[in-house]
Amino acid sequence: MGDNMEKLVLIGFMGSGKTTISRILANRFGFRCIDMDTALEEEAGMTITEIFAAEGEAGFRKRETALLRKYAEEGVSPAGGNGFILSTGGGVVVTPENRPLLKKIGRVYWLRIKPDTVLERLSKDRRRPLLQGGDRREKVEKLMKERTPMYREAADCTIDVDGFSAVHVANLIAKGEGLGRPQ
Ligand code: S3P
Repeated sequence: MGDNMEKLVLIGFMGSGKTTISRILANRFGFRCIDMDTALEEEAGMTITEIFAAEGEAGFRKRETALLRKYAEEGVSPAGGNGFILSTGGGVVVTPENRPLLKKIGRVYWLRIKPDTVLERLSKDRRRPLLQGGDRREKVEKLMKERTPMYREAADCTIDVDGFSAVHVANLIAKGEGLGRPQ
Protein backbone atom coordinates (compact mmCIF):
# COMPACT_ATOMS: atom_id res chain seq x y z
CA MET A 1 0.00 0.00 0.00
CA GLY A 2 1.29 3.48 -0.81
CA ASP A 3 1.67 6.53 1.41
CA ASN A 4 -1.41 8.29 0.09
CA MET A 5 -4.72 7.95 1.79
CA GLU A 6 -6.31 4.68 0.75
CA LYS A 7 -10.01 4.50 -0.01
CA LEU A 8 -11.21 0.94 -0.34
CA VAL A 9 -14.71 -0.42 -0.78
CA LEU A 10 -15.56 -4.12 -0.50
CA ILE A 11 -18.58 -5.54 -2.26
CA GLY A 12 -19.71 -9.13 -2.69
CA PHE A 13 -22.37 -11.68 -1.84
CA MET A 14 -23.33 -12.54 1.74
CA GLY A 15 -20.60 -14.71 3.24
CA SER A 16 -17.82 -13.49 0.94
CA GLY A 17 -15.85 -12.16 3.94
CA LYS A 18 -16.26 -8.42 3.49
CA THR A 19 -16.50 -7.58 7.20
CA THR A 20 -13.69 -9.91 8.35
CA ILE A 21 -11.33 -8.86 5.58
CA SER A 22 -11.99 -5.17 6.14
CA ARG A 23 -11.15 -5.60 9.85
CA ILE A 24 -7.89 -7.37 9.04
CA LEU A 25 -6.83 -4.62 6.61
CA ALA A 26 -7.93 -1.83 8.94
CA ASN A 27 -5.90 -3.29 11.83
CA ARG A 28 -2.86 -3.86 9.70
CA PHE A 29 -2.75 -0.47 8.00
CA GLY A 30 -4.45 1.81 10.52
CA PHE A 31 -7.43 2.42 8.29
CA ARG A 32 -10.75 3.47 9.60
CA CYS A 33 -13.08 0.51 9.21
CA ILE A 34 -16.71 1.20 8.42
CA ASP A 35 -19.30 -1.53 8.21
CA MET A 36 -22.40 -0.23 6.45
CA ASP A 37 -24.77 -2.76 8.01
CA THR A 38 -23.55 -1.81 11.49
CA ALA A 39 -23.85 1.91 10.65
CA LEU A 40 -27.41 1.35 9.39
CA GLU A 41 -28.33 -0.59 12.52
CA GLU A 42 -26.97 2.16 14.75
CA GLU A 43 -28.75 4.86 12.78
CA ALA A 44 -32.08 3.00 12.84
CA GLY A 45 -31.77 1.71 16.40
CA MET A 46 -32.86 -1.66 14.97
CA THR A 47 -31.12 -4.79 13.78
CA ILE A 48 -31.11 -5.59 10.05
CA THR A 49 -33.75 -8.26 10.72
CA GLU A 50 -35.93 -5.70 12.51
CA ILE A 51 -35.55 -3.16 9.68
CA PHE A 52 -36.64 -5.79 7.13
CA ALA A 53 -39.59 -6.77 9.35
CA ALA A 54 -40.72 -3.17 9.93
CA GLU A 55 -40.01 -1.59 6.55
CA GLY A 56 -39.49 -4.46 4.13
CA GLU A 57 -36.53 -4.85 1.82
CA ALA A 58 -37.56 -1.61 0.04
CA GLY A 59 -37.22 0.36 3.29
CA PHE A 60 -33.82 -1.17 3.96
CA ARG A 61 -32.61 -0.31 0.42
CA LYS A 62 -33.72 3.31 0.86
CA ARG A 63 -31.69 3.59 4.04
CA GLU A 64 -28.71 1.96 2.32
CA THR A 65 -28.78 4.41 -0.61
CA ALA A 66 -29.19 7.43 1.68
CA LEU A 67 -26.09 6.44 3.65
CA LEU A 68 -24.08 5.73 0.51
CA ARG A 69 -25.08 9.11 -0.94
CA LYS A 70 -23.88 10.76 2.24
CA TYR A 71 -20.50 8.99 2.00
CA ALA A 72 -20.16 9.93 -1.68
CA GLU A 73 -21.18 13.57 -1.21
CA GLU A 74 -19.48 14.38 2.08
CA GLY A 75 -16.53 11.99 1.77
CA VAL A 76 -15.52 9.60 4.52
CA SER A 77 -13.23 10.96 7.21
CA PRO A 78 -10.28 8.65 7.84
CA ALA A 79 -10.54 9.77 11.50
CA GLY A 80 -6.82 10.30 11.88
CA GLY A 81 -5.91 7.05 10.16
CA ASN A 82 -4.26 6.40 6.81
CA GLY A 83 -7.46 5.93 4.93
CA PHE A 84 -10.63 3.93 5.21
CA ILE A 85 -12.15 0.66 4.19
CA LEU A 86 -15.87 0.47 3.68
CA SER A 87 -17.56 -2.89 3.98
CA THR A 88 -20.99 -2.99 2.32
CA GLY A 89 -24.04 -5.26 2.54
CA GLY A 90 -24.28 -7.97 -0.12
CA GLY A 91 -27.26 -6.33 -1.83
CA VAL A 92 -25.79 -2.84 -2.14
CA VAL A 93 -25.33 -3.27 -5.90
CA VAL A 94 -29.01 -4.02 -6.51
CA THR A 95 -30.05 -0.36 -6.46
CA PRO A 96 -28.77 1.10 -9.76
CA GLU A 97 -27.94 4.49 -8.23
CA ASN A 98 -25.55 2.84 -5.77
CA ARG A 99 -23.19 1.40 -8.37
CA PRO A 100 -21.59 4.70 -9.50
CA LEU A 101 -21.72 5.97 -5.91
CA LEU A 102 -19.51 3.09 -4.77
CA LYS A 103 -16.86 3.99 -7.33
CA LYS A 104 -17.01 7.61 -6.28
CA ILE A 105 -16.25 6.61 -2.70
CA GLY A 106 -13.17 4.50 -3.43
CA ARG A 107 -11.55 1.62 -5.24
CA VAL A 108 -14.15 -1.12 -5.38
CA TYR A 109 -13.08 -4.73 -4.80
CA TRP A 110 -15.57 -7.45 -5.63
CA LEU A 111 -15.04 -10.52 -3.44
CA ARG A 112 -16.43 -13.10 -5.86
CA ILE A 113 -17.77 -16.29 -4.30
CA LYS A 114 -19.50 -19.41 -5.63
CA PRO A 115 -22.95 -20.42 -4.37
CA ASP A 116 -21.54 -23.68 -2.89
CA THR A 117 -19.09 -21.70 -0.75
CA VAL A 118 -21.85 -19.35 0.42
CA LEU A 119 -23.99 -22.35 1.40
CA GLU A 120 -21.10 -23.95 3.28
CA ARG A 121 -20.20 -20.78 5.14
CA LEU A 122 -23.73 -19.68 5.99
CA SER A 123 -25.39 -23.05 6.65
CA LYS A 124 -26.36 -21.99 10.19
CA ASP A 125 -27.02 -18.30 9.54
CA ARG A 126 -30.13 -16.82 11.16
CA ARG A 127 -29.29 -13.15 10.76
CA ARG A 128 -29.79 -12.59 7.07
CA PRO A 129 -33.47 -12.06 6.30
CA LEU A 130 -33.07 -12.90 2.60
CA LEU A 131 -31.83 -16.42 3.42
CA GLN A 132 -34.47 -17.45 5.96
CA GLY A 133 -37.23 -19.98 5.18
CA GLY A 134 -37.59 -22.16 2.09
CA ASP A 135 -34.83 -23.70 0.03
CA ARG A 136 -31.60 -21.87 0.81
CA ARG A 137 -29.73 -23.19 -2.24
CA GLU A 138 -32.50 -21.96 -4.52
CA LYS A 139 -32.42 -18.52 -2.90
CA VAL A 140 -28.64 -18.19 -3.09
CA GLU A 141 -28.47 -19.34 -6.71
CA LYS A 142 -31.27 -17.00 -7.81
CA LEU A 143 -29.80 -13.96 -6.06
CA MET A 144 -26.31 -14.77 -7.32
CA LYS A 145 -27.55 -14.99 -10.90
CA GLU A 146 -29.37 -11.67 -10.65
CA ARG A 147 -26.53 -9.89 -8.90
CA THR A 148 -23.45 -11.12 -10.76
CA PRO A 149 -23.74 -8.56 -13.61
CA MET A 150 -24.37 -5.85 -11.01
CA TYR A 151 -21.24 -6.69 -9.01
CA ARG A 152 -19.30 -6.76 -12.27
CA GLU A 153 -20.56 -3.32 -13.22
CA ALA A 154 -19.81 -1.85 -9.80
CA ALA A 155 -16.30 -3.32 -9.39
CA ASP A 156 -12.88 -1.96 -10.25
CA CYS A 157 -11.19 -5.21 -9.24
CA THR A 158 -12.23 -8.83 -8.68
CA ILE A 159 -10.85 -11.39 -6.25
CA ASP A 160 -12.04 -15.02 -6.18
CA VAL A 161 -12.37 -16.03 -2.54
CA ASP A 162 -13.41 -19.70 -2.77
CA GLY A 163 -10.94 -21.92 -0.91
CA PHE A 164 -9.03 -18.98 0.56
CA SER A 165 -8.86 -17.68 4.11
CA ALA A 166 -9.77 -14.10 4.96
CA VAL A 167 -6.07 -13.45 5.73
CA HIS A 168 -5.05 -14.66 2.28
CA VAL A 169 -7.61 -12.42 0.56
CA ALA A 170 -6.55 -9.47 2.73
CA ASN A 171 -2.94 -10.11 1.63
CA LEU A 172 -3.98 -10.04 -2.03
CA ILE A 173 -5.71 -6.72 -1.55
CA ALA A 174 -2.72 -5.35 0.40
CA LYS A 175 -0.41 -6.34 -2.45
CA GLY A 176 -2.68 -4.55 -4.89
CA GLU A 177 -3.62 -7.77 -6.67
CA GLY A 178 -7.01 -8.78 -8.00
CA LEU A 179 -7.97 -9.50 -11.53
CA GLY A 180 -8.10 -5.90 -12.64
CA ARG A 181 -11.21 -4.46 -14.14
CA PRO A 182 -13.66 -7.30 -14.70
CA GLN A 183 -14.85 -7.86 -18.24
C1 S3P B 1 -28.05 -8.38 2.23
C2 S3P B 1 -26.83 -8.66 2.84
C3 S3P B 1 -26.54 -8.37 4.25
C4 S3P B 1 -27.45 -7.23 4.76
C5 S3P B 1 -28.88 -7.53 4.45
C6 S3P B 1 -29.15 -7.69 2.96
C7 S3P B 1 -28.26 -8.76 0.81
O1 S3P B 1 -25.17 -8.00 4.40
O2 S3P B 1 -27.08 -6.00 4.18
O3 S3P B 1 -29.21 -8.72 5.13
O4 S3P B 1 -29.20 -8.26 0.20
O5 S3P B 1 -27.45 -9.54 0.28
P1 S3P B 1 -23.94 -9.07 4.34
O6 S3P B 1 -23.51 -9.19 2.92
O7 S3P B 1 -22.89 -8.44 5.19
O8 S3P B 1 -24.44 -10.35 4.89
